[in-house]
Amino acid sequence: MAVTLVTSCASSSRFHFRSFSSSPSSLSSCFVRFQLLSRLRVSFAITPLYCSSKATAHTIAHATLGLTQANSVDHPKISFSGKEIDVTEWKGDILAVGVTEKDMAKDANSKFENPILKKLDAHLGGLLADVSAEEDFSGKPGQSTVLRLPGLGSKRVGLIGLGKSASTPSAFQSLGEAVAAAAKASQASSVAVVLASSESFSDESKLSSASDIASGTVLGLFEDSRYKSESKKPSLKSVVFIGFGTGPELENKLKYAEHVSYGVIFTKELVNSPANVLSPAVLAEEASNLASMYSNVMTANILKEEQCKELKMGSYLAVAAASANPPHFIHLIYKPSSGPVKTKLALVGKGLTFDSGGYNIKIGPELIIELMKIDVGGSAAVLGAAKAIGEIKPPGVEVHFIVAACENMISGTGMRPGDVITASNGKTIEVNDTDSEGRLTLADALVYACNQGVDKIVDIATLTGEIIVALGPSMAGMYTASDELAKEVIAASQRSGEKLWRMPMEESYWEMMKSGVADMVNFGGRAGGSITAALFLKRFVSENVEWLHIDMAGRVWNEKKKAATGFGVATLVEWVQNNSS
Ligand code: BES
Ligand code: MN
Ligand code: ZN
Repeated sequence: MAVTLVTSCASSSRFHFRSFSSSPSSLSSCFVRFQLLSRLRVSFAITPLYCSSKATAHTIAHATLGLTQANSVDHPKISFSGKEIDVTEWKGDILAVGVTEKDMAKDANSKFENPILKKLDAHLGGLLADVSAEEDFSGKPGQSTVLRLPGLGSKRVGLIGLGKSASTPSAFQSLGEAVAAAAKASQASSVAVVLASSESFSDESKLSSASDIASGTVLGLFEDSRYKSESKKPSLKSVVFIGFGTGPELENKLKYAEHVSYGVIFTKELVNSPANVLSPAVLAEEASNLASMYSNVMTANILKEEQCKELKMGSYLAVAAASANPPHFIHLIYKPSSGPVKTKLALVGKGLTFDSGGYNIKIGPELIIELMKIDVGGSAAVLGAAKAIGEIKPPGVEVHFIVAACENMISGTGMRPGDVITASNGKTIEVNDTDSEGRLTLADALVYACNQGVDKIVDIATLTGEIIVALGPSMAGMYTASDELAKEVIAASQRSGEKLWRMPMEESYWEMMKSGVADMVNFGGRAGGSITAALFLKRFVSENVEWLHIDMAGRVWNEKKKAATGFGVATLVEWVQNNSS
């Protein structure tokens, strides 16, 4: 029965993913880091529960499957700063000017009306107006042109289109990406960014637009070449913001944007890593690595299978049961180094390093079994957020980062369709579909999170194909019974530019989750499948804890770029930051 379900649902939900073949890979930084860590642990001893020689040996054996080793790449930091100088006097490689369609308006004599463009054009003897007209540059979003013009302190002038009027975070992030692309194309090491009409901006929007441009630049420069045999080093070293203000407020905003962006890059690297490299043990090592990197504010507690058994996590362990790579339950704790803690939060991520579907195997190209390394996306976002929070160190808030990491495989030790399993809160589940495994791992992770005494939980997961059917690839679904928490997370997502759409928790659909033998089944059918998944999770959250669930299956992967998006990090960090004091 269940196999028929999987095949019959294949055609509708995976339409936007095309078959994907990976290029021969070569290196594994995870593995390199892993070896480093194994040695480091002797002196740091940050994971008291994790290391046993057996587990370590096991991990290394699996991490080398296919002999893949990632290139170790460090991400060269770009220096961002604000300056108030005349744009014509700035000396460097590219002066990037963000222009709206309105800024491109010309007067009766075909001269720019916009003061900044007018000034630049005057210095260039009218060439800017001529060349931009010849290039058909009209300021439309996505349009950009880099001109090599003499007469300025800068070697080149780049015009970057912002559309009708630029006001959203994503418009400025795109501007940053265009700056990165221009810098790459001409091997520039120094860039200045100016907006033709920043004068009309409030101080607040100057700060936020500068930080959005900065994050777009960092992320635009990033290319994950760890598994390729050749890679290029980015040339860009410094970005100067002109007309966005100066001083500590701007500097703090830019620093914050950088921290979040490097968290996003970490997330992208985790999601891009193939499952033969990023096993549950290696994911746990990456988490421990964060704890040692931010040891003054962060501790790691990695639970092995035995300890999960003691905690009665039967639901999570059933999913892990078929894999030769043992499960690792990750718990990172962020505590500010001083001052009182007013709010306790938990971020819980689905961490399937690979999802084959189990006995209800993903058959057929639309089920994209070959892309199911992306099922680690929720936990990758949570660990990316942990990295950023380790850097930002928000006061007054404690954050628990929780991932029940494992692999959904097939073997004689695995769970069968029809098995009844028991979660750590005592509830029994009839597994009518082994491919609805994410909720089984999250069930025990949510019970564990509630036991930490937190006030609020946000979980994030590549949970269902149905959310892609419902919302398409551009937004994630959000579920919560709490209007207050919905408001908080929506506010955070509006600032981050990551689109979330609130979905209904329609209790009457619980009918579909009824089992004859157990308290519930784990799969209620395709209709409203993302909703019934959320209703399932709700059964594992204590009533005194505010909880919100994000289903990000459609957002984790960019099929055009064949790369992870890093979705979720910016919103999670913003939410934590807004809960700090
Ligand atoms: N990991 C998948 C959901 C998913 C789909 C993530 C596409 C990323 C991209 C999840 O575990 C799953 O398999 N869900 C299935 C269950 C169904 C076949 C019973 C789904 O929702 O399609
Ligand atoms: Mn699945
Ligand atoms: Zn899954």
